[in-house]
Amino acid sequence: MAPRTDPDRYVLFGHPVGHSWSPFIHALFARQFDHLIDYKLGDVPPAEFRRAVIDFFVAGGAGANVTLPHKPAAAEVVNELSARAERAQAVNTIIRRSATLLLGDNTDGVGLVTDLLRNQGVALTGARVLILGAGGAVRGVLAPLLEQEPRQLCIANRTPDRAQRLQREFSDLGEISACGFDAVDDRPWDLVINATAASLAGEVPALPPRTVGAATVCYDMAYGRGETAFQRWAAARGAARACKGWGMLVEQAAESYRLWRGVRPATRPVLDALERL
Ligand code: ATR
Repeated sequence: MAPRTDPDRYVLFGHPVGHSWSPFIHALFARQFDHLIDYKLGDVPPAEFRRAVIDFFVAGGAGANVTLPHKPAAAEVVNELSARAERAQAVNTIIRRSATLLLGDNTDGVGLVTDLLRNQGVALTGARVLILGAGGAVRGVLAPLLEQEPRQLCIANRTPDRAQRLQREFSDLGEISACGFDAVDDRPWDLVINATAASLAGEVPALPPRTVGAATVCYDMAYGRGETAFQRWAAARGAARACKGWGMLVEQAAESYRLWRGVRPATRPVLDALERL
């Protein structure tokens, strides 16, 4: 009888995580390589997060993803941080070096940039980019966006102070401006990225009237079934395109998979499968 091979075990830690598509996405990745993996959801409250991570890896876990609200805490649990995770002060991928040596990385930013460049065909170099929001989601993507050398990058937030704090923190990587929504430069931007939680409440930040033009691509980092409030808002203002964050989700997952297993899965077939659903 052939020896039984146990699957490599992965987990997504979050709270809540019930809605997550990650097990589905990683199962499709594994199928591309005939890898045997078992990817589960780990719903743990903040007070139990640290213990849950340690227990998982001591018990032989191969790798973990981390989502809200644990990303900053994960940066404290691991032994080492990649440069980009250190910048983001947040970890979404834990790589097992050994049972007691865990490396924390952050693939959110590279996921967004890869989706924009490869899947959406959006040029970032030389572009005028407006980011709405100044929370953890923005902190995670600023460095990879600046690496593409946009002509202008503005962070606009409901609370301008938080945008200005990010501006100061990342100013060594490129020129950033920061303001409240009403002070945004009222000319069409090339790309407007919504990273606020406003969508969750069905709201859209109140921007000056001409920030979106016929050549503007609007990108909502939120995703889900149907159009988001931000997508509807962008379409009503005649944006060239209004996309949402499925591509970012799949691309960040592919990058995690590569970090764990050394091969990068093709993402197009997975995006197509999600679209069919
Ligand atoms: P995340 O990690 O998802 O970025 P966060 O750190 O709580 O979460 O940040 C949420 C972001 O959404 C912030 O930029 C927040 O603005 P404030 O800094 O002013 O709180 C923004 N946000 C939440 N609800 C909003 C709303 N109704 N309109 C506009 N911005 C909103």
